[in-house]
Amino acid sequence: MTKKLNAAKKSIEYIQDGMTVGLGTGSTVELMIEELSKKINTGLNIKCVSTSNRTTKFANNLGIMIHEFDSVAKIDLTIDGADEVDPYLRGIKGGGGALLYEKIVAYNSEKNIWIVDDSKLVNKLGSFPLPIEVVPFAARKLVVKFEQMKLNPVVRKSDNKNIVTDSGHFIIDCRIGEIDDATALEKELKMIPGVVEVGLFIDIADYVIIGYSDRTAVLE
Ligand code: A5P
Repeated sequence: MTKKLNAAKKSIEYIQDGMTVGLGTGSTVELMIEELSKKINTGLNIKCVSTSNRTTKFANNLGIMIHEFDSVAKIDLTIDGADEVDPYLRGIKGGGGALLYEKIVAYNSEKNIWIVDDSKLVNKLGSFPLPIEVVPFAARKLVVKFEQMKLNPVVRKSDNKNIVTDSGHFIIDCRIGEIDDATALEKELKMIPGVVEVGLFIDIADYVIIGYSDRTAVLE
């Protein structure tokens, strides 16, 4: 946890008074929100939007009010976690099932920071199963399609039931192994009817803050 906390604390330095801030999803982001709530309690004045019901609940419990995403004119900065990050600041996200809203909020943010511990760094993306959010109506057909594409798909379940995302979709995790061309794969997948979003986040992060046990490093 120290590594994640170090990255989380560092990211707070990028938040300035008056900003609208996007809050990502995951355990690292929750550490950041805890730190942020201390700042808000001592006078920091910001507006927050959230990327998931989980984050909204967590922030609300700390007394942080969450604004409707579509009600804010712009988002200055979003701070989010990631499941894997390569040296080109590309990532796999969606391990927490929030990839669709995370990508929408990130796309609409002036700047995006990811906070990760050093275990998330990889040379090539793909060891972490790639989450693909799909329309339930087409889920079985998509599993067959992804099998044909040799993506090793598995529908994500909890307690033997398909998990349902905040926007009412299923997630298919694909154990691909090293991805040679992440941009081409993202495009190919997004062309398939029924695919809502893909957990490849390319050209999105402006900074990645890496937490080590005794320090942080920033990739930009
Ligand atoms: C949520 O859907 C993911 O994109 C998270 O950002 C990711 O799983 C990181 O989670 P941790 O901070 O818990 O490692």
